[in-house]
Amino acid sequence: MNVHSRVTSVAQDDIEAFRRVRAAMPDLARSLSAEDLAAQSMADCSPGKWHLAHSSWFFEAMILSGEPGYQPVDPIFQTLFNSYYEALGERVARPERGLMTRPSLDEVLAYRREIDRRMVAWLEEGRADERTGYLFTLGLHHEQQHQELFLMDILNLMSRSPLNPAAWTEEPRAGKVEPMRGGRLRFDGGLVEIGHGDGAFAFDNEAPAHRVWLEPYALSADLVTNGEWIAFIEDGGYARPELWLSDGWATVQAEGWDAPLYWRREADGWNAMTLAGRRPVDPTAPVRHLSLYEADAFARWAGGRLPTEAEWEHAVRSQGDALSNAFGEVWQWTASAYAPYPGFRPTEGTASEYNGKFMANQAVLRGSSFATPEGHARVTYRNFFYPHQRWPFTGLRLAFEAA
Ligand code: AVJ
Ligand code: FE
Repeated sequence: MNVHSRVTSVAQDDIEAFRRVRAAMPDLARSLSAEDLAAQSMADCSPGKWHLAHSSWFFEAMILSGEPGYQPVDPIFQTLFNSYYEALGERVARPERGLMTRPSLDEVLAYRREIDRRMVAWLEEGRADERTGYLFTLGLHHEQQHQELFLMDILNLMSRSPLNPAAWTEEPRAGKVEPMRGGRLRFDGGLVEIGHGDGAFAFDNEAPAHRVWLEPYALSADLVTNGEWIAFIEDGGYARPELWLSDGWATVQAEGWDAPLYWRREADGWNAMTLAGRRPVDPTAPVRHLSLYEADAFARWAGGRLPTEAEWEHAVRSQGDALSNAFGEVWQWTASAYAPYPGFRPTEGTASEYNGKFMANQAVLRGSSFATPEGHARVTYRNFFYPHQRWPFTGLRLAFEAA
């Protein structure tokens, strides 16, 4: 095989991956109306239309605009669909994204198709070098992050409607919930390695691989369930300040929290808003839509604590087969602050703003959720949110001091 045909077959794989990843968000959007896709339910959320546009803009801003003589599809899209990149200039403030009635949904979908066309041409021409090749893969992973954000944000929007709309007939999800195993797993700890070190793709915040000292610990084989959460509620969990961190208790008081986000108590029991409409809470299913504060209070009530991210990663690396739902159900809150690993270096160039600048006042979540696209997450993956946020697909797995 000569050099040229090798490059061509690599490009073919990239084109296939690109088309597959890019098709998913418009496929999800197909069952929603232009009105559904234009509204913004809160400042943390974005309209569906904005996600469709921003994830296209990312390829244009990070890759295509670096090509000699590049003419943007529309120069104003830089301002409309830039999320948070200071180096790329002025942008519409996030809480105001829902005011963008224009461009229309049709125009945004046309923008997507045009970026798809230009990116496929870029791949066919074999323009990728090591730096832009990384940015291409980053663009695919970014697209997948926004696919999950799209679902989180649509759920939040639907939860605000008295119609309790089912955005989809079935909850869109990547795989099946794994059955519970019961019990705890014990880990000796010691000097262990965590973090990304091999040649496969990872975000900059997962590297470098480094050693961490762990005292012996135990981890629940399973995620905390709705049934266990109901027991916490019935035991007065939301009304007992001794269970809560100070910031958590203040938030419970200020927000009037008495159950996870989207839960409602009715005559026939608890129900919760889902992507398939309002449904009875299944006591056997993993609990969802918790803040870090709630996860932490529950852990204290249960006589345990949240695992650190190093404990979580070491457990999954060494005994992953013994845990249920490490991936694919809910992101699991950890006790670890979202901070740089020793030796952390942000990706060079514009993408340097991707992760590193958010490393203050947030906590790490590990695993992945039912809404995370297949193949997106991995054992070193570090998701992050602020402690009060509960619109992501969040849950918990308990840790304990080793017996
Ligand atoms: C890792 C989910 C917190 O929502 O800002 C999207 C993902 N990064 N675009 C976020 C992300 C750039 C990020 N989270
Ligand atoms: Fe983004």
